[in-house]
Amino acid sequence: MEPFRFVCPCLFGLEGILAGEMRRLGLQEVAAENGRVCFRGNAEDLARASLWLRTAERILIEVAAFPAPTFDALFEGVKAVPWENFIGRQDAFPVKGWALNSALHSIPDCQSIIKKAVVERLKSAYSITWFEETGVKYQIQFSIMKDQASIMLDTSGAGLHKRGYRENANAAPLRETLAAAIADLAFVKKDTILCDPFCGSGTILIESALRAKNIAPGIRRRFAAETWDWVGRKPFEEARAEALEKIDPTAGFHAYGGDIDPGAVRLTLQNAKKAGVGKMIDAVCRDVADFSLPTEEAVVICNPPYGERMLDRPAADALAKKMGEVFRRAGAKKIYVITENESFETLFGRPADKRRKLYNGMLRCNLYLYFR
Ligand SMILES: C[S@@+](CC[C@H](N)C(=O)[O-])C[C@H]1O[C@@H](n2cnc3c(N)ncnc32)[C@H](O)[C@@H]1O
Repeated sequence: MEPFRFVCPCLFGLEGILAGEMRRLGLQEVAAENGRVCFRGNAEDLARASLWLRTAERILIEVAAFPAPTFDALFEGVKAVPWENFIGRQDAFPVKGWALNSALHSIPDCQSIIKKAVVERLKSAYSITWFEETGVKYQIQFSIMKDQASIMLDTSGAGLHKRGYRENANAAPLRETLAAAIADLAFVKKDTILCDPFCGSGTILIESALRAKNIAPGIRRRFAAETWDWVGRKPFEEARAEALEKIDPTAGFHAYGGDIDPGAVRLTLQNAKKAGVGKMIDAVCRDVADFSLPTEEAVVICNPPYGERMLDRPAADALAKKMGEVFRRAGAKKIYVITENESFETLFGRPADKRRKLYNGMLRCNLYLYFR
């Protein structure tokens, strides 16, 4: 496969963390933009990035980028792409995407123009007039931002946050990519001792354990590009074999979860086992009011319930106050709390040493970081 520019959308606020991950993987021409980070690479880079990137939502190949102020420009720009190099005569090629601040703003119209342009191109390449679309799927994704079109192929299939361990979640789970980013911001290391007293389905504990043990987050799943003959399974098989060798058996990391809901505790333990980190995670049914630290230097990372999605607002506020009391009493020093509650610091009783704006999907949150 020739080198391509890859585009990786991510949650707003995570661009710097994702760019750092890419650089550590040795990827080239890493460039962070708003809500996405790009790199340049070949099939081997794609396979390694698919397996290892913890904070990317998906990986797209950019096959064309051009100004598209009109439908004609969009049609011609798409038709100029050598689609026959990618898509076979039996293959499926659905189109989806979005447009923002652009003259072309009707998504269904853009979709059908792009589809028509690809069909036109393939018709003359294959000398056929009808496409069955029963073969391998090539999801075409477009974005039009300020009249600039980007035409891409989705190499991931299911979003990269779907690691394969969390089929079941509680009512308000944290996205896996966001939990991984918080573990990065909290400097989770191979020997970290971690507590999450509101563990829910266990996302923070599991993403931290994967990071501590150097387990590639995508090691248990498949990717759309593996079914494409011009990419092939080989780079992915090699990347999986390499990832297995890189797991650190010496990591002393251990995590302790608690939750008031016994169903959540069961879920955490099940998910941890599925993720291959069951031995590194304990979870018990416990009210945060009874919180204690397993060791003095343990790190607390948590995502307490908030009024919008769980509990009513006064109850969520009372819980934030309680957290201030019990964490102080337990002597916790390193505390990382992600919440939508703008009054958290006042209720907790202490201004954070640092705060960082993050998005859990579309929900605007803050991560409050305490170091002392
Ligand atoms: C926002 S969810 C956490 C989601 C979790 N981060 C995940 O990704 O699945 C909050 C959790 O706090 C638990 N909870 C509510 N009140 C609690 C309390 N007083 N003590 C401990 N856990 C509590 C809920 O049962 C829920 O699972």
